[in-house]
Amino acid sequence: MKHLIPEFERLKARFPAGFESSLVLPCVRRIQEDRGFVADSDIDGLVAYLGVPRIQIEEVLSYYTQFRRTPVGRWHLQTCRNVSCSMCGAERLIAHVGASLGIGPGETTADGRITFSTVECLGSCGTAPVVVVNETYHESMSIERLDALLRELG
Ligand code: FES
Repeated sequence: MKHLIPEFERLKARFPAGFESSLVLPCVRRIQEDRGFVADSDIDGLVAYLGVPRIQIEEVLSYYTQFRRTPVGRWHLQTCRNVSCSMCGAERLIAHVGASLGIGPGETTADGRITFSTVECLGSCGTAPVVVVNETYHESMSIERLDALLRELG
């Protein structure tokens, strides 16, 4: 995380003194972008750098489902399982991903290529069901489109 400090300093300069807790979200986002996940050592580093209580960082990491605490595969496929997506067939998509990849939610393929997760609401309920791969949204998904997507990830 130390190599990101110059970037964090530029960010810090945009906030008034005493608002260090406002930097938690952008800092952990940048750390994840850099490393792929947020490690315990990153949290330790941010506590020391920002001077905020560890619980503030832990709260951000546990509230936002896009933050990861462990490494994931090259592709992180997330399938929404909340109400709108469920009503539009999310369970079928989730079962299909599991059957196609041979893994369940929270698991990574043996070759380390794809990590599969189910999540609560990806904020795109109007285009349910929704699948996100890394940062890219795939909306109004069907089994056929999902198969095409999985082939692309190969
Ligand atoms: S319920 Fe799936 S995106 Fe909101």
